[in-house]
Amino acid sequence: MEYRRFGRTNWEVSEIGYGMWGLAGWTGSEASEYERALDLSVERGCNFYDTAWGYAEGKSEQILGGLQNRHPEKKLYLATKIPPKNFKWPSKAHYTLEECFPPDHIKEYTEKSLRNLGVETIDLQQFHVWEDAWAEDERWQRAVEDLKQEGKIRAMGVSVNRWEPNNCLKTLETGLIDAVQVIYNIFDQAPEDLLFPACERLDIGVIARVPFDEGTLTGTLTKETTFPPDDWRSTYFVPENLNASVDHAERLKSLLPPGINLPEMALRFILANKTVSTIIPGMRKIRNVEANMQVSDGNDLPEEFLVQLKNHRWDRQPTEWSQ
Ligand SMILES: NC(=O)c1ccc[n+]([C@@H]2O[C@H](COP(=O)([O-])OP(=O)(O)OC[C@H]3O[C@@H](n4cnc5c(N)ncnc54)[C@H](OP(=O)(O)O)[C@@H]3O)[C@@H](O)[C@H]2O)c1
Repeated sequence: MEYRRFGRTNWEVSEIGYGMWGLAGWTGSEASEYERALDLSVERGCNFYDTAWGYAEGKSEQILGGLQNRHPEKKLYLATKIPPKNFKWPSKAHYTLEECFPPDHIKEYTEKSLRNLGVETIDLQQFHVWEDAWAEDERWQRAVEDLKQEGKIRAMGVSVNRWEPNNCLKTLETGLIDAVQVIYNIFDQAPEDLLFPACERLDIGVIARVPFDEGTLTGTLTKETTFPPDDWRSTYFVPENLNASVDHAERLKSLLPPGINLPEMALRFILANKTVSTIIPGMRKIRNVEANMQVSDGNDLPEEFLVQLKNHRWDRQPTEWSQ
């Protein structure tokens, strides 16, 4: 495993981190498997774990607390998120700070996360939705300063809404935000335009999330794929999205060099961008942890191949199903 500096925090985080939504939020999770998958990730050198209170109302946070307890000798960086007070994901431009992150709510949910994780300090607390219109509002700013001063959080981040990478740029200028979590993958390259240069300039850590486009870039989805009604993906991979996603993935498959599969290519594309501090693939299965952890081996994709992948950029706009 290779490590990268996490912006101004100066933490050395593993290039491949761990996304913890699916194991406590999606259907088909088995504790007996994901506990072993998590342990294996620690053994392979992973040290950055991303969860949220919103992943099954604290259950994913409790699972992460259990992992840290099983590995007390390891420094694991624990990142979690404050849900918006109205519990609506993502936020909309007309939502107010009062509706989503009033100061008492920021503090209340940080306390809940501290208890669920079983730690005295959260390494990285994040806003789980964000509107840049709130940038100048001193209420969230003071709450974040208080939490840092009280030693409840070490760093603060914004997790930007899907396909809105620029909806945090003014907020980053406040100097109170240490990390940004953003969708960045072969399709979603828009963070390169404005967000990544801003993160470079301000020395802000970058967490690349949804590296597989929620599954499209694993190459396992077909136009016939269905999800159980209680799995959020049944409302995300509606026919309009599923059909287009499968078509885009098929075009990529024709580029695959010998000996490399689509998920590996997807991770290597992201690793080629040195502004990214860590990638957080969602994983529940041991075989996926095995495969993803070994991609961080210091070998880069050839430049001419990266240029070809750049042509697969796919800019999308938030819609009623995109969430
Ligand atoms: N608003 C937000 O802040 C927000 C929103 C979305 C996600 N996130 C964070 O980002 C993380 C990653 O996103 P995600 O989990 O939604 O999507 P993702 O990482 O793009 O895709 C996850 C899917 O890929 C599969 N997978 C992983 N490695 C694989 C491999 N090597 N081969 C084949 N399949 C593989 C997983 O399978 P298994 O699960 O079966 O192992 C899972 O079905 C989340 O877990 C969460 O921590 C944050």
